[in-house]
Amino acid sequence: MISQNTIQQILSRIDITEIIGGFVKLKKRGANYLGLCPFHNEKTPSFTVSPSKEIYKCFGCGRSGNTISFLMEHEKYSYVEALKWLAQKYNVEVEETESSPEVKAMQQAADSLYIINGFAQKYFAEQLFSSDEGQNIALSYLKERGFREETIKKFQLGYGLEERDAFAKVALAAQYNQDLLQKSGLVVVRDGRISDNYRGRIIFPVHNQTGKIQGFGARLIRNNDRAPKYINTPENEIYVKSRILYGMYFARQAIDKMDECLLVEGYTDVISLHQAGIENVVASGGTSLTHDQLRLIRKYTKHLTIIYDGDQAGVKAALRGLDMALEEGLSVKLVLIPDNDDPDSYVNKIGASAFREFIATSRKDFILFQIELALRDAGADSNKKAILVNQIAETISKINKAEDFTLQQDYIRKSAELLKIDEAGLLGLVNKFIRDRVGKFETKAGMVEPSASGPDSEQAIPENEDELFNLLFRDEMQERAIIRSLLEFGMKPWEERKVADYMLEELGDHEMIDNTDLNKILDIYKNWYGQGFEPTAKNFLYQEDQHLSTMVVSIMDFPYELSPNWKEHYEGKILTREDLYKEEVISTISYLKLRKIKRLMEMNQKDLEKSHTPEEQVMYIETHKHLKNMEKELLAQVGTVIVK
Ligand code: CTP
Ligand code: MN
Repeated sequence: MISQNTIQQILSRIDITEIIGGFVKLKKRGANYLGLCPFHNEKTPSFTVSPSKEIYKCFGCGRSGNTISFLMEHEKYSYVEALKWLAQKYNVEVEETESSPEVKAMQQAADSLYIINGFAQKYFAEQLFSSDEGQNIALSYLKERGFREETIKKFQLGYGLEERDAFAKVALAAQYNQDLLQKSGLVVVRDGRISDNYRGRIIFPVHNQTGKIQGFGARLIRNNDRAPKYINTPENEIYVKSRILYGMYFARQAIDKMDECLLVEGYTDVISLHQAGIENVVASGGTSLTHDQLRLIRKYTKHLTIIYDGDQAGVKAALRGLDMALEEGLSVKLVLIPDNDDPDSYVNKIGASAFREFIATSRKDFILFQIELALRDAGADSNKKAILVNQIAETISKINKAEDFTLQQDYIRKSAELLKIDEAGLLGLVNKFIRDRVGKFETKAGMVEPSASGPDSEQAIPENEDELFNLLFRDEMQERAIIRSLLEFGMKPWEERKVADYMLEELGDHEMIDNTDLNKILDIYKNWYGQGFEPTAKNFLYQEDQHLSTMVVSIMDFPYELSPNWKEHYEGKILTREDLYKEEVISTISYLKLRKIKRLMEMNQKDLEKSHTPEEQVMYIETHKHLKNMEKELLAQVGTVIVK
């Protein structure tokens, strides 16, 4: 861990325009700087850096953040790596707090494993190119398969000799520790004898994000039935299979540039496609995709194209990843390779340019593909079709991010067409799946009483799509507006006090805000303010929880556009949000209160319907009147000020 003292020193020196300016050409435009966005392709600049707020935002692709998240996103550094990079730049000495003995031991093991793997890679490469056995058996095999020497060198391929302990002898002689050698999977102990694990095999090193070697895949040269075709590094401190995508180190820049990631199954597929000039490609290693792998892709692009064998197994494997990919916010396309080929053999068969053409033209939307496939399978069986409709609705419901709302509508339209069913019906079904999930989530998060999600509350759930949309997204907008007012205007005067005092009082306990992240921000704010500290948005930007930090950036959304309602002239001067902060604070609070009143009225209405005695009814009607009056007052207060 880097000490808090060091972090503070680094933060106090950060100059966002200088750092980002090192990667992006920036021009001054008013109070901000403008440049071509490094995260997406564009011809007119929409990437904005605000030195005063210490944040950046691209109005083209929507990416935003602070200096540290820029380094994390652009250079793919971890939080700590970004801090260390800045420390070096600003000549700040990094003071590390003592880590626990366990953590230290793990770091040491990891460091040693990287060193051993680096040593082994050089050894295997040397055997491939310089030993007789390597040249005659392995290099000739690779060349026969069409791999050129420059490709073999780029991917640092190697060869493990047939001899039982050729590598083990060399490694032990070089003083490498036997336990660590075993942990690395390079050697095994059998019958008390130490032996090489990858014998008579082509060695594929697996690189991490910075190009260091995490592990190996070792392929038999001639397939035989007695031994597995591939042996892979066992799980250890640095090789965690569920987080590895083979080829990412070589593909990352191309993925960034093309804004698309191609996913294949095997080592040889990745290498062959690279050789054909298709570099934005990684491999999953033949197993189902994991959330961690998808998140790794998501760091670079939203567009995933899965290229699998056209056989049954290939399609099934691809389908397994679909829902997960949608949940991670990826849009997924599929290319199936015909005739029992895999991408490697197919590109060798038809050539690089024909292959590229093939990918471009036979890319299919994955959801629609799934429907076509299943429809063919279902035939005239109406039972099967009903199951299918349900499955599709569930799949579409997983695209539930606000930004993908139109995408979801699009899918509903196209799917209904393919399935030959009523669009509104499918929409209803999709919404049902969303509701089920929201319901589960809310119960889990303790946002509603568990009983409220039972059958009784059925009617309270909006049937209509607009209402549902409001429930899911618009409420959050209002909540964001509150936090934004607080962060921006909190320290401004409010009668005898400060805006923060008024707002925190009005917000009372947390029942006003549903969103857990926003509540967290509110909590931190309260805590800081309670300690006599004056919190601003900036304080939230540089904290380790990048998730909250990003949230704050997206809330602060700059530069402010004057909405027509704000463009009132006052003595010839255009009033800005700054000038009108009091109105904004009142209106955001009022809207939140209005929402709360609306909810209370709905609950009251339901109780009224269920009430039995006349006394009860009178009570509920009185409550209704009271709430209605409060609503009227609030509406009057909001009056002319309309907040988007
Ligand atoms: N794989 C594995 N262990 C096996 C078989 C396969 O880990 N016993 C993984 C490897 O990552 C392999 C991928 O699954 O690259 C795909 O397997 P396969 O299609 O059989 O191999 P290819 O990569 O196509 O290898 P080749 O072209 O040399 O046959
Ligand atoms: Mn193959």
